[in-house]
Amino acid sequence: MSRYYVTTPIYYVNDAPHIGHAYTTVAADALARWHRLLGDETFFLTGTDEHGLKIQRAAEAHGLTPLEQADRTSERFRAAWRQLNISNDDFIRTTEPRHYTAVQALLQRCYDNGYVYKSLYSGLYCVACEAYYTESDLVDGQCPVHGTPVEQFEEDNYFFRLSAFTDRLLEWYETDPDGIQPDGKRREAIGIVKQGLDDVSITRSSLKWGVPVPWDDGHVFYVWYDALINYATAVGYASDDERFAEWWPATTHLLAKDILRFHGVYWPAMLMAAGIEPLPRLRVHGYLLVGGEKMSKTRLNQIAPGDLIETFGVDGVRYHFLRDTPFGPDGDFSFEGMIARYNADLANQLGNLLQRVSTVVHSKCGGIGPAPRADSTLGPIVAEVFGDVVEAWRATQPSVALEATWRIIRATNDYLQTNEPWKMPPGPACDAVMGDALEALRIVAILTSPAMPAACDAIWHRIGLAGSVLDQRVPAAARWGGYPGALAVVAAEPLFPRLKG
Ligand code: MSP
Repeated sequence: MSRYYVTTPIYYVNDAPHIGHAYTTVAADALARWHRLLGDETFFLTGTDEHGLKIQRAAEAHGLTPLEQADRTSERFRAAWRQLNISNDDFIRTTEPRHYTAVQALLQRCYDNGYVYKSLYSGLYCVACEAYYTESDLVDGQCPVHGTPVEQFEEDNYFFRLSAFTDRLLEWYETDPDGIQPDGKRREAIGIVKQGLDDVSITRSSLKWGVPVPWDDGHVFYVWYDALINYATAVGYASDDERFAEWWPATTHLLAKDILRFHGVYWPAMLMAAGIEPLPRLRVHGYLLVGGEKMSKTRLNQIAPGDLIETFGVDGVRYHFLRDTPFGPDGDFSFEGMIARYNADLANQLGNLLQRVSTVVHSKCGGIGPAPRADSTLGPIVAEVFGDVVEAWRATQPSVALEATWRIIRATNDYLQTNEPWKMPPGPACDAVMGDALEALRIVAILTSPAMPAACDAIWHRIGLAGSVLDQRVPAAARWGGYPGALAVVAAEPLFPRLKG
């Protein structure tokens, strides 16, 4: 059996979840759901990143201990993901004992293997990034990501011998093009390594809020080197070797381009240093921009997922993220764009198809859905779309998978428009048209369920099918002819009521 292990970045608990976090999490959820449909044994991990100076300072500002700050905000992430119908199998917090065990074991191995040494560090630090910069990285003397001042730090640190991995990293990028995708992001990683790698400081002695260094009391690991290890912790690293051996080769990390350096350069080097193979696959997307700008607390342009759910519903929001912003480039988010997409794709096309079908089945077929024709002209369209959908998910392109699925919806609406079953007398000819449309809807519900699980399950039940769309398995369930007929079709309110622009 195939396995699929998908992760999101673990989110910082200094601040509440916004739609940028939701974008990655929904994409990971849809991928996990697609792999479950394929029948793969699937494990989906998300969680929160709770150490470091940024969290310590946020806690101080709120008059809380760091753990209280982490408890509260971590719960807000969990609640946001519950609200968005995220089907994660685990939620990791880096303050959990299981994570301390894995971090200490993995970095101890790097140390034992000779890839960690002690030295004095002085550098410019951005607390918001939790990262050191050099003078040349700065833009107008400020952090290149946040545009805020950096701070001068000096302390005794342990360093990771990143420079020793230059050749092996370049070899990985070149021999395994599937390692980092899309290709532009893989080239970006190659660019970073080719510019030259300095060794990196992985511990802090001035900070208490972190995982203790096992070989030297008084030092804690710098937050990024603890955080990355979460992906190994959750599948049993240092606690369940058998489980780790089963899941690790199936690992896919989703992340945005802001943390490509950590995931595409530092993390694979750490894994090599600890002797862990194979390297994970990385799927890197762009930013969701608001008014052309990155969301940030200082710009006051953060949008919480809940703000959108009120208007668009959970599945409307999920659909929008997956359909409207291709995975890879940056995408501009706007309320107007969201309304336009919702009305065009969900209200007018999918919702309208469902509404038409149930209305005509009630007026012409006594409310009982007929079986499709084996040789319907819709059959070959479905087969072709299915191939495209498989390929799109394989390439981590949810927008392409959905776009392809909408070809079935458009073809079915056209088919109804051409045949005008509402003008036909009740009887076999009308039944045949309606059976074909019901079958198309059944397959659309299956193929769209990774994006809109609740709405697709509602469609499933409205066309009279038993069980859940989520329990279907493709390719078998997506083959033309599965709608059995003689099922009671439900006539109900529109699933996606039109929104006013
Ligand atoms: N804690 C680190 C990640 C550690 S992973 C071992 C971190 N956290 S974060 O809270 O800042 O979240 C970063 C991730 O959130 C991005 O990589 C991306 O997945 C998601 N996004 C945050 N803002 C985003 C946008 N504006 N657009 C799209 N995704 C963005 O970095």
